[in-house]
Formats: sequence, C-alpha cells, structure tokens
Amino acid sequence: MLASPHQQGAQHGCRRAVITRAYRHDLNGSHLEPGAPQLEVDRVSLTFGGVRALDDVSLDVVQGEIHAIIGPNGAGKTSLLNCISGLYRPDGGRIILHGGDADHSLARARPSRIARWGVARSFQNIELFRHLSVLDNLLLGRHVHMRHRLLPSLWYWGSARRQEIAQRDLVEEVIDLLEIQAHRHKPVGSLAYGIQKRVELGRALAMQPAVLLLDEPMAGMNVEEKEDMARYVLDVNELAGVTVVLIEHDMEVVMDISRRVSVLDFGLLIASGPPDAVRQDEKVLEAYLGQEHTA
Ligand SMILES: Nc1ncnc2c1ncn2[C@@H]1O[C@H](COP(=O)(O)OP(=O)(O)OP(=O)(O)O)[C@@H](O)[C@H]1O
Ligand SMILES: [Mg+2]
Repeated sequence: MLASPHQQGAQHGCRRAVITRAYRHDLNGSHLEPGAPQLEVDRVSLTFGGVRALDDVSLDVVQGEIHAIIGPNGAGKTSLLNCISGLYRPDGGRIILHGGDADHSLARARPSRIARWGVARSFQNIELFRHLSVLDNLLLGRHVHMRHRLLPSLWYWGSARRQEIAQRDLVEEVIDLLEIQAHRHKPVGSLAYGIQKRVELGRALAMQPAVLLLDEPMAGMNVEEKEDMARYVLDVNELAGVTVVLIEHDMEVVMDISRRVSVLDFGLLIASGPPDAVRQDEKVLEAYLGQEHTA
C-alpha cells in the first residue's frame, strides 16, 4: 500500500511548496469545484475497418479525481484517450470538457486547441525529442502558453523576454517536483527508461493541465520505479488538484490510487465505479479470466 503524500515527511514538505507555486494560479481555464463534471464522454464510437475500437462508450470524469481506465489488450483504452486528446476523431458521440462552461467540445477540435484548453497527455510509447535535453523537452511542453510568435517577439522584446523567464521558472518547478535535477541538461535518449517516463510526465505537467491523460505511465518499470511514479501522480492530483485519467495494467497500483475505475472490453464499457465494486464485478472478472484462458 502506498503512503499518502501527506505522510511523506520533510522532503515532501519541500515538494508541496514547489507544486503550490507552479499550479495554484492557473489550471488552464478550469475553475470547477472538486467533484464537478470535468470531462463527459457521451456515446462515443470509433471503428477501424471492421474493428469497433469504441462502441457507444459513455463515462464521466469529475474534477479532482484519479479515474483509471482498465481492460484487456486491445480493449480500446488508448483509442479513448486518442479521442479525448483529438488524435482520433470519433465516428459518433460527444466529448465535453470543463462541464461545458464554454464551447469545449473535444470530438471535433484539433489536438493543439485541446491542449490549450487544458488537456495534456503522455503516450504509451515514449514520445519525446531524444536528442534534446530534458530542459528543452519540458520547455517545448510550455509552448501552448507562449503568446508571442517570432515577428511580434522582435517588436515586443521586453514582454517576450519576461514571458520566457516565467516559462523557465515553471519548468524548473516541474523538474524539482519530479526530482530530475541531475538530468536537466542530458539528452533524453541517454537516460534510463524509468527516467524517460518521468520526463514524459514532466512534459505533460509543464503544460499546467487541468486534465492529465496518462497512457500506461508505469509500463515496463520495476516495483520501486512504479511506486515513485504513483507518488508523483498522487502529488499532482492531491496537491495541485489536477484531474487524472490513468490507463494502467498493474491492478495493485490502480486499486491503490484511483477514486474510480472504468473497464473497457472489446470497445464496450462493461463497468464503472469505485475500485472495490469494480474488482468484484462479474463482467470484469470474466473479461480478465477470459484473457488468461486465451493467453
Ligand atoms: N490506428 C489504428 N488503426 C487500426 N486499428 C486500430 C488503430 N488504433 C487502434 N486500433 C484497433 O482498435 C482496437 C483497440 O486498440 P487500443 O490501442 O485502443 O487498445 P488498448 O486497450 O489501448 O490496448 P493495449 O492494452 O494493448 O494498449 C484494437 O483492435 C486495435 O487493433
Ligand atoms: Mg493502449
């Protein structure tokens, strides 16, 4: 069982200060109270040729929760995240962000716009610039907040410069939070796999998201690395109030850190609720046992 971030002693006190400075003032346009609907997936369907990757899937994610998406291989988990972040366009259905407080309809919006609205993600296979340093990769994560393009930057040099300093300050705070100071100037490609996964979380965090979508952030890690990553995810959620949608295969981690769990199987949502209820759900047991039988 993971210790709550509130039980982690003096070192944690320091990290709490870091994240408070980094996030408190702006969660990208989401001013929702904890528990309010943050992300509504409404009857979303997606097909690839004859494959129904998502079949009429509806689920709600509320502000401030860690909501796990689980299911056997090929169940449609990544496809759902791709629809939310704009990489795939669903055949049908709606995806509404921030409780529909403005026209935040994700099913038809471009990925860059969705990122500006406050949705950041990590990928199942690490998507970083391997030859660039950790710092540069994180600064690239900030670009959604840069208001100046090249030409205006030359005219309004002072303001652009001030903005750049602010971006760097925030990125340094993310580096401190994830304890990757020692790797700041190293090319990402030279780092151990577990650290690269942490940098990818950092790139998403640098966007200061209201909603963080994580696609198997602990895949391929050893037990210790998984525990560290789970704590970082908990910190971001509990201290900064960032809503997290987490795809993860490790059931122990899922049951430990999520408030609610939704289960996909062959593109269908077969269960959604608190971890204890989902763990005992017959359809869920069947989906997982079925997988073991065919494995
Ligand atoms: N771009 C694509 N082109 C064709 N088929 C796709 C594409 N993306 C996903 N699929 C198919 O859609 C289904 C769901 O895939 P998806 O990657 O969403 O599953 P998943 O639950 O993330 O699985 P895993 O646990 O293995 O990552 C699979 O049958 C997959 O082959
Ligand atoms: Mg996947």
